[in-house]
Amino acid sequence: MAHYLITGAAGGIGRTLISHLAGHELTLVGRTAATISALGHPSLAADLTTEAGAAELEAFLSTRPPLDGAAHCVGSLLLKPAHRLTFAEWRGVQATNLDSAFLLLQVLAKVPMRGSLVFVSSVAAGLGLANHEAIAAAKAGIEGLVRSAAASYAASGLRINAVAPALTETPLTAGMVANEQIRKAVTAMHPLGRLGTPDDQAAAIAWLLSPASSWITGQVLAVDGGLRTVRAK
Ligand SMILES: NC(=O)c1ccc[n+]([C@@H]2O[C@H](COP(=O)([O-])OP(=O)(O)OC[C@H]3O[C@@H](n4cnc5c(N)ncnc54)[C@H](OP(=O)(O)O)[C@@H]3O)[C@@H](O)[C@H]2O)c1
Repeated sequence: MAHYLITGAAGGIGRTLISHLAGHELTLVGRTAATISALGHPSLAADLTTEAGAAELEAFLSTRPPLDGAAHCVGSLLLKPAHRLTFAEWRGVQATNLDSAFLLLQVLAKVPMRGSLVFVSSVAAGLGLANHEAIAAAKAGIEGLVRSAAASYAASGLRINAVAPALTETPLTAGMVANEQIRKAVTAMHPLGRLGTPDDQAAAIAWLLSPASSWITGQVLAVDGGLRTVRAK
């Protein structure tokens, strides 16, 4: 039995990952105490986009067994072209996605931990999709962070990787795919002909967390129905 940390544990992918890691010791982080504590594992309510939240996590982890891995499932989505983004919106997307990833990495580099750290990027980091400027920049930042940190902490026994999802049906995307026309158009963009499920993402994250991937570090695994690299038609 291993001990894994899941951040964003109340979100679509985070919540599904809990079931993929059944049988292991889990520690969960989310922003809302009532929601996160209802998930049935030791948990902390903290905002990991802030240094104060990161300090709370570091203190909480000192009360828990050493970690064997962590999955950072915090993130957001804001689709607007650059000229319509306010600077505050841009900063908000960077804070939720990139700052939180950096702050989590800093905490985990300080606490006793060997094993695997998995971040969540996006297909938009590696493929120019219209109106994705803010999220594409934040997630490309995560991919750079993953490669550099994988080098910095390899000798400490830490593996650091990411998954890069394309459109996956979670609360984050529910509004977008509620429109049947948009749903059809977006589905048709994916060579494998369907949208992603939280299970697609959670299975890949669980594998990257597990010793089955023990010789893999510094990688970004596309879990995207082929969108980033395959043209089927
Ligand atoms: N779904 C997709 O199509 C898709 C595609 C590419 C990448 N991703 C990435 O996959 C990851 C998981 O997303 P999801 O699809 O599971 O979305 P979700 O259901 O909306 O979950 C997002 C999680 O992020 C947390 N969060 C959001 N804003 C935050 C903020 N300002 N401060 C702290 N925490 C915040 C939420 O915490 P609370 O529960 O506390 O609200 C929630 O647990 C994210 O990194 C997302 O960018 C998703």
